Amino acid sequence: MAGSPLVTLNDGKKMPQLGLGVWQINDSETATVVKTALALGYRSVDTAAFYKNERGVGEGVRLAQLPREEVFVTTKLWNSRHGYDEALKAFEESMTRLDLGYLDLFLIHWPVAGSLKYVDTWKAFVKLRQEGRVKSIGVSNFNPDHLKRIVDATGVKPVVNQVELHPLMQQKELRAVHAELGIATEAWSPLGKGTSVNIPEIVKIATKYGKTSGQVIIRWHLDSGTIVIPKSANPQRLADNLNVFDFRLDPADMTAMAALDKKARMDMDPAVFTGLDLT
Ligand SMILES: NC(=O)c1ccc[n+]([C@@H]2O[C@H](COP(=O)([O-])OP(=O)(O)OC[C@H]3O[C@@H](n4cnc5c(N)ncnc54)[C@H](OP(=O)(O)O)[C@@H]3O)[C@@H](O)[C@H]2O)c1
Repeated sequence: MAGSPLVTLNDGKKMPQLGLGVWQINDSETATVVKTALALGYRSVDTAAFYKNERGVGEGVRLAQLPREEVFVTTKLWNSRHGYDEALKAFEESMTRLDLGYLDLFLIHWPVAGSLKYVDTWKAFVKLRQEGRVKSIGVSNFNPDHLKRIVDATGVKPVVNQVELHPLMQQKELRAVHAELGIATEAWSPLGKGTSVNIPEIVKIATKYGKTSGQVIIRWHLDSGTIVIPKSANPQRLADNLNVFDFRLDPADMTAMAALDKKARMDMDPAVFTGLDLT
């Protein structure tokens, strides 16, 4: 099975375009899932302090016994840890849990509505990258005004913005801003938390290619130039989700996929979400 193509980020580093998301996998199960995924050919894992499974991710990566530089690991700073000093502390705590020596990508998980602390957080991220503790730095759930504020304050652009993106929520306007700034778009909940596989138009396209609808959706993300991190804890679906490199969607099917957009969010809106009540 072919591995994922790599995307070159705006800092020159390379990141696999297809990786594994591990939200909602218990820490105790995460090492096994990550080890299985890496054995199947995944080379990128997306976790977060908030997922409470960084320890399991680190263990899974070590169990896979691959050279460290062959695996791309992302984690994220939680909303209650914004601010310059607090962000540096939170980073060290994540690094202790992961125990992988260095981190490939550190993301601000959410900007946190009603606060501008994320600007100081970003300054701390820039320092961590300068020191080589993390190879690349990026953001998640940032709107154009958030992006503009951190770039204006530091001159440093995030390499990615990881946002809710699936067939019913295609983020076309935000993607245009990313393209202008040279920021890669990374899709979270790329399968609509599993619900998008039942969309009749996608089921029909899947039949045509002899693929599952999950594979068609992942292929659509890849053919759209998106970095994609579907979550599965199921060995068969882990394998299926990686088995997408032997076909491409033709232009008519890409047009049919584009027509499914309803700008329908399944989860929190960054313009109002603080998450400060969640730990
Ligand atoms: N930055 C953020 O704020 C943010 C927010 C949400 C998510 N994320 C990241 O994005 C990752 C993915 O998002 P997500 O976990 O919300 O949702 P998702 O990847 O869109 O969907 C995952 C769900 O779909 C099922 N599934 C996986 N492959 C399938 C397939 N081929 N056919 C049918 N069902 C399938 C999974 O079940 P099984 O496990 O049983 O296969 C799971 O229930 C997360 O794990 C996390 O890393 C980030």
